[in-house]
Amino acid sequence: MKIFLDSANLESIKKYNDMGLVDGITTNPTLLSKEKGDPEEIMGEIVRIVKGPISLEVISTDFMGMMAEGRRLAKFGKNVVVKIPMTADGLKAVRALRDEQIRTNVTLIFSANQALLAAKAGASYVSPFIGRLDDIGEIGMDVVGDIVKIFQNYKFDCQVLVASIRHPLHVIDAAKLGADVVTLPPDVLAKMIAHPLTDIGLARFLDDWKKISRSPSPKLTVPR
Ligand code: G3P
Repeated sequence: MKIFLDSANLESIKKYNDMGLVDGITTNPTLLSKEKGDPEEIMGEIVRIVKGPISLEVISTDFMGMMAEGRRLAKFGKNVVVKIPMTADGLKAVRALRDEQIRTNVTLIFSANQALLAAKAGASYVSPFIGRLDDIGEIGMDVVGDIVKIFQNYKFDCQVLVASIRHPLHVIDAAKLGADVVTLPPDVLAKMIAHPLTDIGLARFLDDWKKISRSPSPKLTVPR
């Protein structure tokens, strides 16, 4: 399963990219609005830092506007995937952009039917927003399971990118269902790295080392 970072924060992107954990990035206008600086420059910088797919979202809601923006965003780099909202005009833009060899990620997916249509239109990725479904008392992960099954049944060449992830258990559930990608807020990735027993275990190892050596770390010289 691929891990994308759901963030426009350059510091976080560099931090986790240096650990080799970042297969791609998803951004949206909300995430960009949280950062200081010109959004265009931030998008350009993200595309330079991370080699994998970078989703950049259009703001237009009409077909012609989405096409113009999609073409412009695609010029940021070969790894750009244009993020298009799940609307009738959006589906038309997905098909037209695909015909121009521009990859798309259809966002704001809340049902398996929407994902089916996006895949049929030619999207490279569909983004079901599971946390927001959980928020309204539905089970977001059920939608992911349905989408994965449908795509397998018909061998759609479209990846299931699970978005609106709120906690590490969402990641485990998405992985068990066979989702292709999870896009994670940096704080969820940080929670996945940490475990209290790791901290306790490390502290004990260091304490025990202090009991047997005056040196703070093992001597690196090889004894003769
Ligand atoms: O990738 C979509 C994500 O940014 C939305 O997350 O937590 O606002 O539903 P959330």
